[in-house]
Amino acid sequence: MNVSVFGLGYVGTVSAGCFAADGHQVIGVDVHPDKVAAINEGRSPVVEPGLPELLRSAVSGGRLRATTDPAAAVRDSEVSLVCVGTPSRRNGSLDLTHLERVCEQIGAALRDRSAYHVVVIRSTVLPGTTHQVVIPTLERCSGKRYGEGFGVSVNPEFLREGSALKDFQKPPLTLVGHNHAADASGTIALYQSIDAPLFSTSVRVAEMMKYTSNAWHALKVCFANEIGNVCKEVGIDSHEVMDIFCRDEKLNLSSYYLKPGFAFGGSCLPKDVRALQYRARELDVDTPVLRAILPSNALQIQRALDAVLETGRKRVGMLGFSFKAHTDDLRESPLVILAEALLGKGISLRIYDKNVSVSRLVGANKDYIERQIPHLSSLLCDSIAETIEPSDVVIVGNQAPEFVEPVQRCRSDQIIVDLVRLPLSGAALAADYRGLCW
Ligand SMILES: NC(=O)c1ccc[n+]([C@@H]2O[C@H](COP(=O)([O-])OP(=O)(O)OC[C@H]3O[C@@H](n4cnc5c(N)ncnc54)[C@H](O)[C@@H]3O)[C@@H](O)[C@H]2O)c1
Repeated sequence: MNVSVFGLGYVGTVSAGCFAADGHQVIGVDVHPDKVAAINEGRSPVVEPGLPELLRSAVSGGRLRATTDPAAAVRDSEVSLVCVGTPSRRNGSLDLTHLERVCEQIGAALRDRSAYHVVVIRSTVLPGTTHQVVIPTLERCSGKRYGEGFGVSVNPEFLREGSALKDFQKPPLTLVGHNHAADASGTIALYQSIDAPLFSTSVRVAEMMKYTSNAWHALKVCFANEIGNVCKEVGIDSHEVMDIFCRDEKLNLSSYYLKPGFAFGGSCLPKDVRALQYRARELDVDTPVLRAILPSNALQIQRALDAVLETGRKRVGMLGFSFKAHTDDLRESPLVILAEALLGKGISLRIYDKNVSVSRLVGANKDYIERQIPHLSSLLCDSIAETIEPSDVVIVGNQAPEFVEPVQRCRSDQIIVDLVRLPLSGAALAADYRGLCW
């Protein structure tokens, strides 16, 4: 393909060099003449292992050149990659000056072009930026309509400086956010020789996915460092701990526990986070990430409470009571905390949980129920129907499979507050459905 790459910094130069090496015809664009001159001389404007050799070969092979003229670059390409910087302002907000400027330049260059042109956003931009800034700017400056004269896709970059060439050739995934098939195919064609799973999604999901990844990476670093700091104070080799920790690919390094939903609870996680934090405090080791866990969890319970109270209805049925499906363990169940908060707000509550109903009669939790939460015990119903029928609001508190069918059949005058994303068929729902964080 004929590709123009706007912004010859780390991302732009690596992308330009690698796409040229993959056989595409690439024109780099930058506002700095010295960066442009460097590329044209086969030198790298940024320090990155392997990049000088790659650029030299691409330039001498005639597959890569650079210019300061955006109009010429757009004229000679079918696809423009936007790789300009999106730095932080002092208040933490994103500075979109470069992005806006480059969209104005590409837009102006598109004014006289009849061929459909795809603008690919490689820069990291917050959700909404493409629709609120990129597309309107391109439309205003080109005089063309999005989806007719030009297309836009969001194709975040996942490379790490220092291993950028390897990351480019073998990224964890290729992500293309788009609203029109032509924009996707124009972008995907660039990646034909890249060995990575391809995810085609909406513009907004692609924008958010990049921030989710980077926030996760940052959280991993700080989490590991805090564990390391505690380990050092108690004379434990943190690397040995984390080496073994990382071998658990079932719960630790896996998709488990990574689906947005309700708060955690039970007899282990709250107690153990609390104890570790207490120990760190005793050791005078500050652990702000670990300290934030329980308050964050409490906020999720508050969020569920607000979601129910916002309905303004008074008769509420709660499906699920123990801290997760398939157990009767009520210790530190966030649903117990939610139930108590609802009662405190004058809500008339009915609760159903198959496992708790059984343990109420015979199980190990009988004593807990009778002694700790007798006021809630009397609210337990014997069937799902008894809980749902008289309720205006139905809270889905866990993923018990027996909830799916009755919740699916909720009436149009009822509101479902789903804390766990029960697998329901949205199209067939008569009730007003509200997800906790989706
Ligand atoms: N650096 C990384 O490892 C990395 C990884 C993934 C994503 N990103 C994201 O990619 C984007 C670019 O990052 P970077 O580190 O390559 O930035 P950078 O600051 O190194 O490079 C940006 C380049 O854009 C040029 N530029 C500014 N306005 C221009 C215009 N109107 N026309 C042409 N060129 C223009 C600048 O002169 C500069 O050379 C950012 O949004 C960043 O968050 C960076």
